[in-house]
Amino acid sequence: MTAKERAATAALELVKDRMPLGLGTGSPAKHFIDGVGAKVAQGWDLKGIPTSQASADQAESVSIPLIEPDETTIIDLAVDGADEADPNGALIKGGGGALLREKIIAQAAKRFIVIADASKDVPQLGAFPLPVEIDRFGWSLTVKAIRQTLADLDYGTPDLTLRAQEEGGFFLSDGGHYVVDMALGRIADPGLLDKTLTMLPGVVTTGLFVELTGSLVFGTADGVSVRHLT
Ligand code: A5P
Repeated sequence: MTAKERAATAALELVKDRMPLGLGTGSPAKHFIDGVGAKVAQGWDLKGIPTSQASADQAESVSIPLIEPDETTIIDLAVDGADEADPNGALIKGGGGALLREKIIAQAAKRFIVIADASKDVPQLGAFPLPVEIDRFGWSLTVKAIRQTLADLDYGTPDLTLRAQEEGGFFLSDGGHYVVDMALGRIADPGLLDKTLTMLPGVVTTGLFVELTGSLVFGTADGVSVRHLT
């Protein structure tokens, strides 16, 4: 079993019958979705609220009944990966480009559990380029405003890259937005950066998840390491 599978397996122990579940995006979340599918195959009455089309497709392939977020007022548990996690449980997410839907579900869930391999456990966020989801309308004006905001917050003039897709053209999120990846190096105050960038009208959301994490579950070579934040 890989470290990511170990983390996913530990999170599966928190799943109870009849729970509406937020299903994350990325490789650890894939393991979790497979595990939820196995429980459904055993007769459990679970419902999935996927955070991306990719996760919806995978969930359907293992026969997890899906519901739209607006069909439920309760999401008992949401389980997702992360690109980085700091000691306070603040995260960088969005490496897979699903940050907006991931954040909506994480914020709405009663409990948000992050599953990852131990390489995602970092003392400070920022080595992983921070994804920021922006509206396509006036995108270059938004990037200019982001640059000004970063300079004002003492991040200097970092490289900002409009995410491309392998098949050519720019990456579009499931919501039809662009994603800008920002090479910040280190993020001194994730909450302040998230709030300030989110105030810009063209910014849909950032990949900074602050004060959302309930527990971090890191898979290791021979077990899991769990950190509870709330
Ligand atoms: C999806 O947008 C991301 O936040 C993923 O959760 C993240 O990329 C984790 O996937 P890996 O562990 O495969 O890098």
